[in-house]
Amino acid sequence: MIRKPFIAGNWKMYKTGAEAREFIERFRPLVKSWDRAQVALAVSALSLPEAVKAAEGSQLLIGAQNTHWATEGAFTGEISGAMIKAAGGQVVIIGHSERRLLFGETDGWVAKKLAAALDFGLLPIVCVGETLQDRDMGRTFNVLANQLTGGLAGLSDQALRDIVLAYEPVWAIGTGVTATVEQAQEAQAFIRGRLSRQFNPEAAGAVRLVYGGSVKPDNAQALLSQPDIDGALVGGASLSPDSFAEIVNLVG
Ligand code: PGA
Repeated sequence: MIRKPFIAGNWKMYKTGAEAREFIERFRPLVKSWDRAQVALAVSALSLPEAVKAAEGSQLLIGAQNTHWATEGAFTGEISGAMIKAAGGQVVIIGHSERRLLFGETDGWVAKKLAAALDFGLLPIVCVGETLQDRDMGRTFNVLANQLTGGLAGLSDQALRDIVLAYEPVWAIGTGVTATVEQAQEAQAFIRGRLSRQFNPEAAGAVRLVYGGSVKPDNAQALLSQPDIDGALVGGASLSPDSFAEIVNLVG
């Protein structure tokens, strides 16, 4: 099964529209080949239109970091998939651990957001991952299984192929501590095995599973060479055009 590598940057609450434009202008010529991997940037909703404009004429996908499940409504502070799409966004992160832990997002919400994102024609990047406490207590696989059951509830076999799943151990996010390649591969293989029971095995074999958590240019190669790691979701190292391009250029 050939799965096209997927490398996405998650800018979190960094970069204004002007900063996004400057980044993209510097980043575009640094990428050696746009065909080897699908490359995306999840930017602040406010920077989205400017980022989309700066990416025009390239294969760089621009998207958001969160979405509501409704098309519109009385949901103060939220943005919808319809709005992301109208602004030119093509991807959206769903269920990032910061949303889960700091903003109370549940697996039930993830499932609703995922369905809505697919309805609006966005490529969803669904995040799962255990906390350090979960890992220390030997609950990693239980937590992942629950997140997959709840977060992907109602998803069809066909739709599973159209999403990206990001395994992001919470203890490795923004901490500089990366999971070892063995830990990452073990968790990702577990996820793929689990998906092959939850969905049809062919769909489970086709879905792209990426790793996230302190991915940097110097550790990306080893992670990306694992059989069940099809790419990366990059936080801190995606804020510099040079380091993000370095990671993208490792693929292929
Ligand atoms: P990090 O963030 O690369 O800064 O650890 C990854 C993420 O939160 O997606």
